[in-house]
Amino acid sequence: MTRSPVGRETGRVDGRPKVTGAAEYSGDHQAVDLAHAHLVTSTVARGTITRIDTTAALASPGVLRVYAAPESRLGLYPVTGPAASFAENYVPLRDAEVRFHGQAIALVVAETPEQARDAAARVTATYDTQPPRTSLADEPHVPAGPTISGAPSSLTILAPGVGSIDAALAASDVVVEAEFHQHMQHHVAMEPHAILAAWNGDRVTIHAGAQIPAAYALGTAQRLGVLPENLQLITEYVGGGFGARVVLWSDTPLAAAAAREIGRPVRLVLTREQMFALTGHRSQLTQNVRLGASRDGVLNAVSHQSVSERPTTLAFTMTPAHATTDALYRTPNLHVDAQLAVLDLPGSRAMRGPNEAPGAFALETAMDELAIATGVDPVELRLRNYATTSPSRGLPWSSKHLDECYHVGARRFGWSARSATPRSHVDGHWLIGTGMATAIYPAHRRPASVRVRLLDDDTAVISTGISDLGTGAATVVAVSGADALGIPLTRVTPEIGDTLLPQGAPAVGSSATHATVPAIVNAARDAINELKRVAVTDDGSPWLGADVEDLRYERGILHGQGRSMSFGRLLTAIDSPGITALAESPGAVDPGYVHHSFGAHFCEVRVNRFTGDTRVTRFTTVADVGRVINARAARSQLVGGVVFGIGHALLEENRVEPDTGRLANSTLADYLVPVNADVPDIDVHLLDRPDPVLTGPLGDGSEDVGTRSLGARGLGEIGTVGSAAAIGNAVYNATGIRVRDVPITLDKLIDRL
Ligand code: MOS
Repeated sequence: MTRSPVGRETGRVDGRPKVTGAAEYSGDHQAVDLAHAHLVTSTVARGTITRIDTTAALASPGVLRVYAAPESRLGLYPVTGPAASFAENYVPLRDAEVRFHGQAIALVVAETPEQARDAAARVTATYDTQPPRTSLADEPHVPAGPTISGAPSSLTILAPGVGSIDAALAASDVVVEAEFHQHMQHHVAMEPHAILAAWNGDRVTIHAGAQIPAAYALGTAQRLGVLPENLQLITEYVGGGFGARVVLWSDTPLAAAAAREIGRPVRLVLTREQMFALTGHRSQLTQNVRLGASRDGVLNAVSHQSVSERPTTLAFTMTPAHATTDALYRTPNLHVDAQLAVLDLPGSRAMRGPNEAPGAFALETAMDELAIATGVDPVELRLRNYATTSPSRGLPWSSKHLDECYHVGARRFGWSARSATPRSHVDGHWLIGTGMATAIYPAHRRPASVRVRLLDDDTAVISTGISDLGTGAATVVAVSGADALGIPLTRVTPEIGDTLLPQGAPAVGSSATHATVPAIVNAARDAINELKRVAVTDDGSPWLGADVEDLRYERGILHGQGRSMSFGRLLTAIDSPGITALAESPGAVDPGYVHHSFGAHFCEVRVNRFTGDTRVTRFTTVADVGRVINARAARSQLVGGVVFGIGHALLEENRVEPDTGRLANSTLADYLVPVNADVPDIDVHLLDRPDPVLTGPLGDGSEDVGTRSLGARGLGEIGTVGSAAAIGNAVYNATGIRVRDVPITLDKLIDRL
């Protein structure tokens, strides 16, 4: 008897090739006659290139070509239409304008990577330079416009008779006001951006990591001036995305255009340092949060304003109050607003809970300050302000068990043993403190197409053009395919990561799983219906002439009229190599509900009394993410999110040199991310309560195929939302010092300890 693998601990289907090194990432692919490219980048942030001297580079050993701005021989074009929001707004190497420090200004192609790199170092450029705009505070602010989900980023809701949010705050018994700053942060996926492009006539095959392969391929085709059907993008193994592989940067078009021009396959691998400027970042951000409450902590007014970057080439519209402050707590008076400042900085992009992680840091730190100001326990404060309808939209949630997250998390962590008084727990050199915070992340439905093939050896192939960023998407496809067909996981082969496959869900916004599973369910249902149809119509079938209603499919076997046969045996009997069904699931959600995942974080830190060094020593996260498909990968995603939170709270920042616009910390020696020594054992608990609305009607629990859409909801980013606030709140509890500018480095603590 086959037990469904849904919700169990499933090892990754691609685990073995990954750990044995057999998995080929984009930069690992080989090609005959391969040439190697290296980028040259600008050393000023704003101005015009007056001259690029390529003489020395061209004379270097092994060099085949040097393409330099304002070069146009590469045949690159603007990206227009729907793909334009997934690409930078200039054509690389086609004009003399410099828009940010680190922009590509030349591309060297040589016989070996070393020859290309060495020759690139010999390219020199001169510029007419203008002072770059680099400061959020100094440049004019413009309204951010709609959020990425189309909601207003500026919104004011006032109770009857209240004239303004300021008036509502002024009328509150207790007011907390806090301002937060953070510098740039970067995605720093482990795999560097790497491209292999190979042409065959007017067709090109590109290996590159992409989170939305279809949009990425469309944008690349436009850049290259080729028909989309002549471009195949393969993105089978990807070493992390985090938002940096959503849009088309200059690397892929340049590599592909160079390959076309020289008539040889070209590989381009960015250096780690180049990636900081060329593949996006999370914008610098200033936030102001004001909370007005009664003496017992019941919110009366909530205001959350922000200013972030709008780089001239490509901007992620950062709206940190959206899906955090506009969605979390009940309040009669609410104001959120997002502003942007136009700056001469590299393009920004969504990064790891793009709005929600920084937004929740501000809101959940301010809530901790309100807890202290009112003397209400932080968990109790959140329960007192618990919302059962969306504060900005007035609608109920598709499913919400956040209260259970607080209760279960508090119990697992041992929250009741805590002292609310700072510096009350000392162990030798260490001040010990605990803190908590809430997590919330929106659940968007996105369209997905899936093909199911039932084969004559009783196996099934489930195909969808999704990319697996390391999240476990391929395993989710296999697990939910095995469930939908009622067959063992070992008999399901997932096929992903290729634009020739049916268009998969975008691997963004914590939505890939709940977008893909319903399409798998639909395709499996259609495949089984097709199986029944051929069973009653094919000459070789024992059921020829029967009524499909007389056939029942269960666990890979057709039953009817007193006989049973596996689908493989039936297909063999009728001499069919297999049957195929293609199905989609829509991108829409039920508009009568709001849809979010939730979580609660509990954290213990130790802060060294003499050095200010902060260590996270315990962490518990409880998350409400709908039905869990793969318990092991889901937990791993949450752990990863908390690790991002440690980076956000304690380590990650890149500073902009104000006069030059140069990103100062653009190496992994200077831009610190958590390593194993920074990460304690993280206790993750998933409530596993299916969402009855987000992915359509739930089944009745029977094993009938096609009745269940499982009720999964996104979990990719929920772990990183609020986890930095829990750490900061624990640092306050340990030390009595409130640091509102992350990362909380020892220099911000040491003089005040
Ligand atoms: Mo994600 S920041 O939606 O790639």
